[in-house]
Amino acid sequence: MRCIFSSLSRRIFCMLSGSLYIIVFFSTFTYAYYFIFYINFKYYTMRNTLNRRQFLSSAAIIGAAGATGAGSLLTSCSGGSKTQELIPLKPADQLYIPTLTDKAAEGKPLRAGIIGCGGRGSGATMNFLAAADNLTISALCDTFQDKLDNLKGQLKEKKGIEVPDANCFVGFDGFQKLIDCPDVDVVIMATPPVFRPLHFKACVDAGKHCFIEKPIAVDPVGARIILTAAKQAEAKGLCVVTGTQRHHQRSYVEAYKQVQSGLIGELTGANVYWNQNMLWYRTKEAAWTNMEWMIRDWVNWTWLSGDHIVEQHVHNIDVFTWFSGKKPIKAVAFGSRQRRLTGNQYDNFSVDFTYEGGIHVHSMCRQIDGCAGNVSEFIQGSKGSFDSSDMTIRDLAGNILWQYDKETEKQFQQNDPYTLEHVNWITHIRSGQPICQAEETANSCIAAVMGRESAYTGKEVTWDEMMSSTMDLMPAELAMDNSIDPASFKVPVPGSEPKAKA
Ligand SMILES: NC(=O)c1ccc[n+]([C@@H]2O[C@H](COP(=O)([O-])OP(=O)(O)OC[C@H]3O[C@@H](n4cnc5c(N)ncnc54)[C@H](O)[C@@H]3O)[C@@H](O)[C@H]2O)c1
Repeated sequence: MRCIFSSLSRRIFCMLSGSLYIIVFFSTFTYAYYFIFYINFKYYTMRNTLNRRQFLSSAAIIGAAGATGAGSLLTSCSGGSKTQELIPLKPADQLYIPTLTDKAAEGKPLRAGIIGCGGRGSGATMNFLAAADNLTISALCDTFQDKLDNLKGQLKEKKGIEVPDANCFVGFDGFQKLIDCPDVDVVIMATPPVFRPLHFKACVDAGKHCFIEKPIAVDPVGARIILTAAKQAEAKGLCVVTGTQRHHQRSYVEAYKQVQSGLIGELTGANVYWNQNMLWYRTKEAAWTNMEWMIRDWVNWTWLSGDHIVEQHVHNIDVFTWFSGKKPIKAVAFGSRQRRLTGNQYDNFSVDFTYEGGIHVHSMCRQIDGCAGNVSEFIQGSKGSFDSSDMTIRDLAGNILWQYDKETEKQFQQNDPYTLEHVNWITHIRSGQPICQAEETANSCIAAVMGRESAYTGKEVTWDEMMSSTMDLMPAELAMDNSIDPASFKVPVPGSEPKAKA
């Protein structure tokens, strides 16, 4: 009886002291949170610049602990706290978390000019307009009148916005006219990526904020133009956001916080995938010049797109660049072309990247119908792994430590990452807090180019080679005529001929 009573009283004591402990813990926790928030806020306002390294720090760690659930914080009377063992991956001032409010900060009216009025240019235009109040589109530019007219018509019909003819520029030199247009405050770029370095540099020279769609370079010369212009943009205090929308996707941002908090330990490897059906293509029409055909069919030509490892798969490579903050030292790759109908690109690539610290990342991308699909990233750490396909973090035994709760998105009205990237961009512009994502995205593009070049040649390709390479895929002359010969763009064949039998 005494035994039962003493066991009961021990339990009651344990429950009471546990409750007290929880209350004390959460009060401390709450105060700690506000204290850390206050410190971060002070730090943020003192620096008066967000640049690429805003806050996060302890807030993310607390966020991480909170997201794993109180169960793992307070295991039992006798249990320890797993999250107390977390060792953050980076110092607080090296982490950046975007502002993902439903709408951007209020502020001065902004008039955007659009360079590239195709699918994404039109999409980005609508995303920009949805991101805040007091926004309009004041100028358009495209190489083709029909593309420009299409977006002009959409703006009038859906948004009641009339872009004056005087602010519509057609042709290869249209970008400079748009950038110089006094009615343009900010620029959105969504042409095929080979043109991005030229356009971005001109925009930075003119001192205008810009949103630049990924990829932002397709070759080493273009990448170095971007890196130099990015430094100038930072020096001028400009706001430059790239179209790597996972950086603005609520689920990825939450996962990033967890990984940075140390939940999966040190990063030790990764697999990144973009395997999907064949993309679109255009066959040549009689009225089109060679250049017109190539540009209208651009996702199949390496000089225009960088090949799909750069054009599309850069998103997944970039997730590892973002989460790890590391660059690849070398790449060994293979790839092939089996199904494509136009252009000179490959259908698939498989790359073994060796990153700083000896970390291996396997990158895999394919555009062929009727094959297994997968667009995701899997990042391995010393204590667990992150899988973006189900937005889950598991420990080494496969137990779920954290999972993104999509229900939390119900508290927001805006959950579209394509719009949220504009929300964040405009907030930075209106609050006078510079941001420049161009260097980070350029690094991801260089990684993708390394993979492509290794597959094309069969050789190992290093980061240092890329940094000194004179490879420039832009034609010397840009003219909408037949001076460019599509047949001269051969499908690359790696390695050498087999030796003849002796
Ligand atoms: N972030 C994303 O998820 C995402 C999605 C789709 C496309 N994109 C990127 O957006 C960019 C555009 O892709 P898209 O799907 O809109 O292609 P698209 O072919 O639909 O549009 C490209 C437009 O640019 C125009 N153009 C070509 N060269 C030009 C030049 N020198 N000056 C002015 N205009 C020019 C074309 O005529 C066309 O209207 C690419 O970099 C692509 O990778 C990003």
